[in-house]
Amino acid sequence: MSRLDIAIDGESLITPDSIASEVFSSTDPIRDGELEEARAAMALHLRVAEQQFQQDGDVGQTMLRLFTAMNAVRNRYSPKVWEQVIPIAQNHAVARYCHEDPFTRWSFEKPRGYSGDAGLLDFIYGHSSVQPLLDAASPLGKAIHGFVSQAPACAAVRERRDLLAQFVDDVASSRGGEAEILTIAAGHLREGSMSQALKDKTIKRWIALDQDPMSVGAVASEFHGTVVEAVNGSVGTVLKRAQSFGTFDFVYAAGLYDYLADEVAIKLTQRCLQMLKPHGTFLFANFADEIPDDGYMETFMNWALLLRSEEDMWRIMRAASEGLDVECTIRFGQNKNIVYGIIRKLS
Ligand SMILES: C[S@@+](CC[C@H](N)C(=O)[O-])C[C@H]1O[C@@H](n2cnc3c(N)ncnc32)[C@H](O)[C@@H]1O
Repeated sequence: MSRLDIAIDGESLITPDSIASEVFSSTDPIRDGELEEARAAMALHLRVAEQQFQQDGDVGQTMLRLFTAMNAVRNRYSPKVWEQVIPIAQNHAVARYCHEDPFTRWSFEKPRGYSGDAGLLDFIYGHSSVQPLLDAASPLGKAIHGFVSQAPACAAVRERRDLLAQFVDDVASSRGGEAEILTIAAGHLREGSMSQALKDKTIKRWIALDQDPMSVGAVASEFHGTVVEAVNGSVGTVLKRAQSFGTFDFVYAAGLYDYLADEVAIKLTQRCLQMLKPHGTFLFANFADEIPDDGYMETFMNWALLLRSEEDMWRIMRAASEGLDVECTIRFGQNKNIVYGIIRKLS
C-alpha cells in the first residue's frame, strides 16, 4: 500500500501513530545531550505542576503555567526529541489530574478509536450532549475544563463554526435559493444550527459527509426534515467518486486538513475544485503553526495535528489550482490560531 493509499483511508489516517509519523518527522539534527536536557526540563515542569495541584492552589494559574511550559519545551527541542519526551508527561501524575477534565480525558482515550471525533468537538462547542460528563466531573476536573475549553485553540474552533455558518449564509443569499453546499468531514455539522439560511429554507442542497457512521447518524437525526443530507464517506470516497456528488457553490472542510499530509491535501483540493460550479468557492481550515496549546494537546490530550503556516497553505493552494482560473486568498481567525485557505473560481 502506498503512503497515499494509507492516508486516504478514513480510519488509519487519523490514529495517533499515523499522524505522529507526519507531525514529528523532521530532519533537524539532534544536538549532543539534547534529549537528556529535554527530559530534565520536562521532569522539572511536571514536578512543579504536581506540587501546585497538591497544594490546591489556583487551578487557572497552574494550568496556564503547564500550558506555557509544554509549549516552551515543544518549541525549544527538535521534533524528534519532543516526541520522545511526550510519554514522560503522559505517564506522570500530572496526567491523572488533567484527565479529571472529561474533555482532556476523551481526547486522550479516543473512545471512537481516532483523534478529533465530533463528540470531542462538542466539548469545545459547549454542546448539551456533553453536559452529563461535565456534571459528573470532580471539582478539579471542572476547573481544569474551565481553563482548557477557554484556551486559544478552542476559542478559534468556536469562531470557525460561526465563520462557516456565515459563509454558508452568504453563499445562500448570493444564489437566490439555489445554493448547493458540500461539507467534507462534517462531524456533527454544528454550524448547521447557526445558519439562518438553513432555518429560512433558502438552501437547495447541503451534503454533510463524514467517515464516522455515528456522526453521520447524529447529523441525519438532528437535521431530519431539512435539506441536509448526511452521507457516510471518507476523503477516499471524494477522491474516487467525486462525480457522483454533482457540483456545488460552496465546498469546505474544517478540522480535516490538520490530519492530511500535503500530498493528500493537494489531491483533495484539486478534486474539490473540480466539484465547484462556476464562481463557486472552496475553503479549507487548518490550525496555524504557532498555537500556544500545541504542547498540552500533544501530551495530555494525545492530539497531534499537522499545524500549517501561511506559506504551507499557499503551497497547497498553488499546487492544487495550477492552470485554473481562480483567485486564492488566505485569512486568519481573530486569534490567529486557525488559518483559512479560500479558492474562488473566477469563471
Ligand atoms: C475535528 S472533527 C471536525 C468536525 C467538523 N468539521 C467541525 O468543525 O466541528 C474531524 C472530523 O473529520 C472526520 N474525518 C477524519 N478523517 C476523515 C476522512 N478521511 N474522511 C472523512 N472524514 C474524516 C472525523 O470523523 C471527524 O468528524
